[in-house]
Amino acid sequence: MNRISKKTEDTKEIAKTFLARLKFRKAGATMVGLSGELGTGKTTFVQFLARELGVKRKVASPTFVIMKRYAIKNSKYKNLFHLDAYRLKNEKELFHLGWEEVLSKKENLVFIEWPENVIKALPKKYYKIKITHTKEGHRKFEIKNA
Ligand SMILES: Nc1ncnc2c1ncn2[C@@H]1O[C@H](COP(=O)(O)OP(=O)(O)O)[C@@H](O)[C@H]1O
Ligand SMILES: [Mg+2]
Repeated sequence: MNRISKKTEDTKEIAKTFLARLKFRKAGATMVGLSGELGTGKTTFVQFLARELGVKRKVASPTFVIMKRYAIKNSKYKNLFHLDAYRLKNEKELFHLGWEEVLSKKENLVFIEWPENVIKALPKKYYKIKITHTKEGHRKFEIKNA
């Protein structure tokens, strides 16, 4: 699915639609990779999605802590994990954060910015969202299913 976002409200709608279409897996976490240059709206997308899932806590960029967890109520998903691999050179650091366990649970919904930095740590199947700036100053979302 391809979408154009002209304003942050559009990104909110894209996040809602994406969430509604997510398929719950039989085993293992549901993983979503968010690719795109700085400032394209990867974190903004996760913030809207978290709100839609009923997360009340403020969702800030996990650039410095690498990984954050938010509890989810009233959903098949129990935990939202938000990672930013921007500062990681490779997957090693992820394993110190308990990555194997995060991946093993189907009630975990995991969003990771800069997935290409830790590509070997990702499961075979994951949703891929690529955001690019268009020449009109809008954002283009290209979404591939897992
Ligand atoms: N259509 C849009 N969708 C998402 N963010 C937008 C849009 N237009 C402008 N912005 C702004 O761009 C910035 C995106 O920042 P952020 O989500 O932190 O990007 P990233 O995580 O990709 O580095 C925010 O300040 C946001 O308000
Ligand atoms: Mg970000």
